[in-house]
Amino acid sequence: MRSLNLYGGEPLHGELTVQGSKNSVLPILAATLLSREPCEIHNCPDLLDVRAAFEILENLGCTVQYDGETAVVDPTAASRSVIPDELMRKMRSSVMFLGAMLGRFGRACISYPGGCELGARPIDIHLSALSRLGVELREDGGDIRCLLRRYLPQTVTLMFPSVGATENVMLLCAAIPGETLLIHPAREPEIVDLQNFLNCMGAEIRGAGSDCIRIRGSAQLHGCSYTVIPDRIAAATYACAAVACGGEVLLHKTEPGHLLMLLAVLRDMGVDVKEDEDQIRIISDGRPDAVPLVKTLPYPGFPTDMQPLLMAAVLKARGSIVFNETIFENRFKHVGEFLRMGADVRIEGMNAIVNGVRRLHGAKVQAADLRGGAALAIAGLSAEGKTTLGGVEHIERGYVAIDKALTELGAKVAWEP
Ligand code: UD1
Repeated sequence: MRSLNLYGGEPLHGELTVQGSKNSVLPILAATLLSREPCEIHNCPDLLDVRAAFEILENLGCTVQYDGETAVVDPTAASRSVIPDELMRKMRSSVMFLGAMLGRFGRACISYPGGCELGARPIDIHLSALSRLGVELREDGGDIRCLLRRYLPQTVTLMFPSVGATENVMLLCAAIPGETLLIHPAREPEIVDLQNFLNCMGAEIRGAGSDCIRIRGSAQLHGCSYTVIPDRIAAATYACAAVACGGEVLLHKTEPGHLLMLLAVLRDMGVDVKEDEDQIRIISDGRPDAVPLVKTLPYPGFPTDMQPLLMAAVLKARGSIVFNETIFENRFKHVGEFLRMGADVRIEGMNAIVNGVRRLHGAKVQAADLRGGAALAIAGLSAEGKTTLGGVEHIERGYVAIDKALTELGAKVAWEP
């Protein structure tokens, strides 16, 4: 277990280039399996989850070369269609390989994926969409065995716009000739990024980001060179750190259009937000004004991944804010740790009510999941004195060199010896 010491209570001043998107690169890495030639993925962030995806690709017979920025995946020799349970458990996105393996081999065997413990996180929407497309599913001692007997291109409607289910359908349908309409898909920027990558490989997909995606697949997907979009959740993390601590922070290589909801809420809170083409500047006095309600919703609503981050940013707000979490039932684990720092937060069912306090103090806290852990780092930096944050490996699943990034913003952090 790695622990990071944060010496907080000082404003942040600095600039940072935002990493490539974790939630984009993981389905894109799965998609490389569909090609018959090498693919070059640029802006590929060096994360534990990305390393886990490399391990899965290698296990399936691909070769991967990575220099910390560009990954070259050669899927030519891929031959296996089974992912061992220990690799499946390493992260949630292992489930993306289901659609990719079905697209490449017409069969796949996986077990239930791991990832952040945010609730039950079933995959029933993925499985029912795949079965509508002609995939036969059999559960056998914890394994899910899938066989594509006869592809049935058609209209598939998702009952809920699941990000992962949308990606699995796109991955399968991109690799098989025929046209499928996906109704009520997820609309996240990462879905658009996957569409763009699959189109670079020779698929014909239109409509990602809207209520309907039309997928025309091709059996001849080829290699390509592609640059992953900036990570909007990482950008939100550093923006929220600036709001929590006060000061001025400039984020480079961001896409403000992917952060519309967060930036709107911050402006409502009186934070000075300036946007340029690919930059965001945050200027804050460290005590944002309260807004009545922040409710998490599928994109373009307020993202559930930013809920813990924004909550950390408003622990010292002037007034009270209700956070209503509608996506994951177990996404308030950071709240108990905030209380150790002197925060005033009450949980009532799926609501967390934050009453802003004047000051927070450092404490020993423990990360239980990725974004909750990042939220604790933000709270630690806005608290006076030393905070020791344990469980940093959760954070390292999604943030490239979090210690260096925070230092670039002027924070004082050091690894616990
Ligand atoms: C993705 C993101 C994650 C983000 C989430 C919601 C990646 C790697 N992860 O996760 O960071 O928090 O979107 O924006 O991109 N659900 C079902 N059945 C299913 C699938 C989902 O009931 O078959 C439920 C989930 O339990 C959850 C909700 O739908 O309550 C959203 O899940 P989904 O959109 O699928 O999220 P992920 O793809 O797991």
